[in-house]
Amino acid sequence: MAKTPPPDHFYKGTRMPALAPASTLDAVGVMEVRDDDIWVVSYPKAGTTWGQEVTSVIMEGGDLAKVKSKRLSERVPYLELGPLGQQSASYKRIDAMSYDVPRLIRTHLPYELMPQQWHTKKPKTLYVARNPKDTAVSCWHFTKINHFFGTRETFADFLKKFVEGDVAYGSWFDHNLAFWEHRHDPNILFVKYEDVKTDHRRMVKRIAEFYDRPLPVEMIDACVEHCTLDGTKDNRMSNHLGALYISQEKGTFHRKGEVGDWMSYFTIAQNDVLDSLYEEKMMGTGLTFDFEL
Ligand code: A3P
Repeated sequence: MAKTPPPDHFYKGTRMPALAPASTLDAVGVMEVRDDDIWVVSYPKAGTTWGQEVTSVIMEGGDLAKVKSKRLSERVPYLELGPLGQQSASYKRIDAMSYDVPRLIRTHLPYELMPQQWHTKKPKTLYVARNPKDTAVSCWHFTKINHFFGTRETFADFLKKFVEGDVAYGSWFDHNLAFWEHRHDPNILFVKYEDVKTDHRRMVKRIAEFYDRPLPVEMIDACVEHCTLDGTKDNRMSNHLGALYISQEKGTFHRKGEVGDWMSYFTIAQNDVLDSLYEEKMMGTGLTFDFEL
């Protein structure tokens, strides 16, 4: 029988999932960051897997055979994942990585919890953002397959907490807006999941240029095909099957990947609540999202 996981906890004011314990977050805060690191950052369920896979393909120069020879979690490790079973905390593995090639690192940490040296060394960082309604629906589904990630409440219960920012990794608004404020920093590229759905090719090309690793046309095409939802779903090196903290018996990690799926879940009243909060928080920020395509 599956053991009940330890509960979420608060770390420096932000609710964090049990899989990122305080001792790990303390160590991550003071870790060595390298100038040539590549960071993939997002609020959970914003398209992180896509961002990781695209980054990995580009940094391997489009060599798909090489990409497919290693699990995504090894190619782009999850920084704040603490010790699990026989596996030691992820940052230890990241610390021990060779200096010969850039490290690729994925995290959901909010801006203020990013390692101290990330703020000073300013390594290239891809931030993937997704509209809050689809993010909320995706997060809720994720709680069913990741027992470290909150509880198995009804969508209504989950959404209430999401709106209050009382979920793992805190407020969607705070997370997104903090990185958005830095969107013009030369080391940050802020991309939206909705743009990936409308123009995948342009986004891949943009990211390759940002990493200073432009790919030839045929490799861009191959990368786009490889990194689609179906591409990563069918690729056992990218589909998170076997991840220690995910059990895909009660749902699948790769679900629909749609823009506008929230419409099947939100009531009119729930939509009104989120809309007024969105208006209040986003006003004057210049950050907008598509909620349907
Ligand atoms: P849905 O639950 O709406 O289907 P993350 O990778 O940040 O955990 O986000 C997961 C969400 O992105 C899920 O959304 C999942 O289906 C979708 N997704 C996973 N891999 C994807 C890919 N390669 N391209 C587009 N969407 C992807």
